[in-house]
Amino acid sequence: MNDWIQAGTVDELRDQGPKLIKGGIVVFYHEDEVHALDNRCPHLGFPLHMGSLCNGILTCHWHHARFDVCSGGTLDPWADDVPVHELTVQDGVIWVNPLSRNGNQVQLYKDRLRNGIEQNIGLVIAKAIVGLMEAGVPETEIAAIGIEFGVKQRRQGWGSGLTILTAMANILPKLDKQGRILALFQGLLHTARDSAGSGTRFLLDPLPDTTVSEERLTQWYRECIEVRDTRGAERLLLTAMQAGADEMRLFTMMSMAVTDHFYINGGHTLDFHNKAFESLKYVGEEQRKYVLASLVPMLGDASRSEELHSWQSPVNLVQPLTEAFEELSVKGVSSGDVGSCIDDGELLQTLLGDDPLRTVRVLKEALLGGASPVRLAQIAALAAAERVVRFHTQNDFGDWIAVLHTFTHAHAVHEGLIRSSNPWLVRGIFHTAAAIYLDRFLNIPAAPRPAASGAAEEAPQPAELLEILDKQQQVAPAAAWVIRYLRSGGKPEPLFNILGHALLREDAEFHSFQMYEAAVAEYDRWASESGPFAEKACETLILAVTRYLAAHAPTSRERPHTAKIAWRLHRGEKLFEEA
Ligand code: FES
Repeated sequence: MNDWIQAGTVDELRDQGPKLIKGGIVVFYHEDEVHALDNRCPHLGFPLHMGSLCNGILTCHWHHARFDVCSGGTLDPWADDVPVHELTVQDGVIWVNPLSRNGNQVQLYKDRLRNGIEQNIGLVIAKAIVGLMEAGVPETEIAAIGIEFGVKQRRQGWGSGLTILTAMANILPKLDKQGRILALFQGLLHTARDSAGSGTRFLLDPLPDTTVSEERLTQWYRECIEVRDTRGAERLLLTAMQAGADEMRLFTMMSMAVTDHFYINGGHTLDFHNKAFESLKYVGEEQRKYVLASLVPMLGDASRSEELHSWQSPVNLVQPLTEAFEELSVKGVSSGDVGSCIDDGELLQTLLGDDPLRTVRVLKEALLGGASPVRLAQIAALAAAERVVRFHTQNDFGDWIAVLHTFTHAHAVHEGLIRSSNPWLVRGIFHTAAAIYLDRFLNIPAAPRPAASGAAEEAPQPAELLEILDKQQQVAPAAAWVIRYLRSGGKPEPLFNILGHALLREDAEFHSFQMYEAAVAEYDRWASESGPFAEKACETLILAVTRYLAAHAPTSRERPHTAKIAWRLHRGEKLFEEA
């Protein structure tokens, strides 16, 4: 009790009203009892000694949040509970413990985070993130709390919220501390919103007899998906997991079913599968079944692009693709480590050309010739990024999403082929190629690639880009700035950090998160190579993400404002004194 704080006498407190003591603690006398609480309202920091205390309820005067003065618990969950302090009275003198009664702060913040996600309360989520980060909890562990919640508490299964959260967990190493707070907040808030009003997902049991071969389980799984039977498919997936199928084999099984049809759900389904498998590295072993089973419901009503008019006419893409897949299955596709039998530049131009039958033939022959499927998928992703770079702003604004879908699907195919070399997955490359072809009119006329002119002796400060993006429709100026930055020797690391802030300071829409993360991942692959083609590829990816973000900024920036409040509250800043 040595370091407890003396708070005067009970008589003084009763006569003179609430008393502020060291450590930002307020002491009240009420209904013959003494109470000590943190004086800052947990909502936005208003001094609670200026509130009113009646019938055991302390009411803050800023937004009228109510607190039980004994426990600090709030009747208004958006405000959060206020910490209370233990005290003792000796010979009429009050002594207060400077440490709050709330005990293990890490556990408290974890509970608050779960509570904030359950109740979909942004400020509670933001404050818990800041508290956990400041307590030294690994950031991916914070993300995992949201993933584990989302895969169980969203009846429809994996959705955009979990995709954003996983993407944000992936890009944490690219961001400074403020960026990481924002990334976690955006991801967790989207997960909470996506799950709000939904219900718990209860998993089926695996089949009782698990001696069925993995090959047969895969075949049955594909057959179930074919007829949109998601319950049967879920049971088979869980059976394969119980039988010990590893991550690569499970991905193969599930992505074979996804690529049995063309570019399903506009490419989202494969992208969601890719993200869910990426999320496995953040969650515990016992959560894997919830993560993977959450992917199955979306297959029940997935659109299949071979049924779309645009894939059948005026050029029938379905028939040549189907024939190519048959030929590849008969002749076989190697896992392909032979990168040298294709010319990267030529293939890129072919993919961006307007002869889809030639594209199909070139891809097929490359695969039959032993070309690496991973390399083909990487070039296809680059071609899809080039479509974003050449997207003309005279297009309908909504068309940005068309080129975005193709790019993120292409990225998922690329990552999927790195994860699994199953030859059936090469069908995803052809689906990407067809989508790139169908997007061709969004590049007519093609937006000019910014010229190399204007390089300065010193690279401009990255923060300048944020100023440019404070105004609407700065697609061309932002792209020109980025080229000037790169040509002046600007380093990519600060640029990706500032592009991350350009994304995270906005009330960005789902696709913007996808764009940033996919571009970063594709950039990293090319940056590990040398030579002019790889250098230009890196530039293409930076231009693509810059143009996309510029087209979608600025917004009202409400979400990041909440995260900023949480940070300032944690630092003890006085928000209520501002105009
Ligand atoms: S209710 Fe206390 S600061 Fe808002």
